[in-house]
Amino acid sequence: MDWKYYRPTFTADSAPEIPTGVMVGGAWSGHRRFAYDIVRFAKPKTIVELGTFYGTSFFSFCQAVQDARLQTNCYAVDTWQGDQHTGQYGHLNIYQAVHSFNSRQFSAFSTLVRSTFDEALALFGNNSIDLLHIDGCHTYEAVLHDFRSWLPKLSPNGIILFHDIIVKLPTFGVHVLWEQLSAVYPHFQFAHSNGLGILFPKGCPEPFKTVIANQSLLAKHYSR
Ligand SMILES: C[S@@+](CC[C@H](N)C(=O)[O-])C[C@H]1O[C@@H](n2cnc3c(N)ncnc32)[C@H](O)[C@@H]1O
Repeated sequence: MDWKYYRPTFTADSAPEIPTGVMVGGAWSGHRRFAYDIVRFAKPKTIVELGTFYGTSFFSFCQAVQDARLQTNCYAVDTWQGDQHTGQYGHLNIYQAVHSFNSRQFSAFSTLVRSTFDEALALFGNNSIDLLHIDGCHTYEAVLHDFRSWLPKLSPNGIILFHDIIVKLPTFGVHVLWEQLSAVYPHFQFAHSNGLGILFPKGCPEPFKTVIANQSLLAKHYSR
């Protein structure tokens, strides 16, 4: 298997705009090294994230693009207002913090789209997104809507990441959708850090078939 385990330095960890602990102590933090490694492995041309908050996941993708000098454009879509599960952000100016760090560190290839996911659909052509991360509101209806509305935008052999696939709190429905999708499409998954699902709904490229076959090795490595 050609998969490489990198040991990146995440520049977001020392960003003064981002509150201490957010990057390393949040629900997404346990997937950062995987996010970095999958970008370096798959070399996507276009990455779109639905749901960014302070950027724990997004800046991991960006770090890989920067370190590997990839020709990749990254887009983070969020209202930066919060939702049913995060709560409303209110006076917390999370967008300003993310914008300030993004402008300084990654602006050559990274764009923040401050809008609803539905509004942002018009910005992307069909079959144009190589790596899509769906991490917005986690009700079944919301995540199903995000999947259905963004699937046409995914390129052939494109990858979709879903966070929170093992969370079974009331009103959390990603696990239900994940059960349905993973019964149909090639995939692999991690159970740590609320679970991350990796789905290939438009075909699975050859190198990823080996990764899927070796998923227990990856799970062991990233859950440490
Ligand atoms: C769980 S948080 C994202 C966490 C982030 N991926 C991380 O690494 O920390 C979900 C985000 O999605 C945003 N969101 C939820 N539904 C949305 C929608 N329909 N349109 C735009 N933003 C939305 C919220 O504002 C919130 O910031």
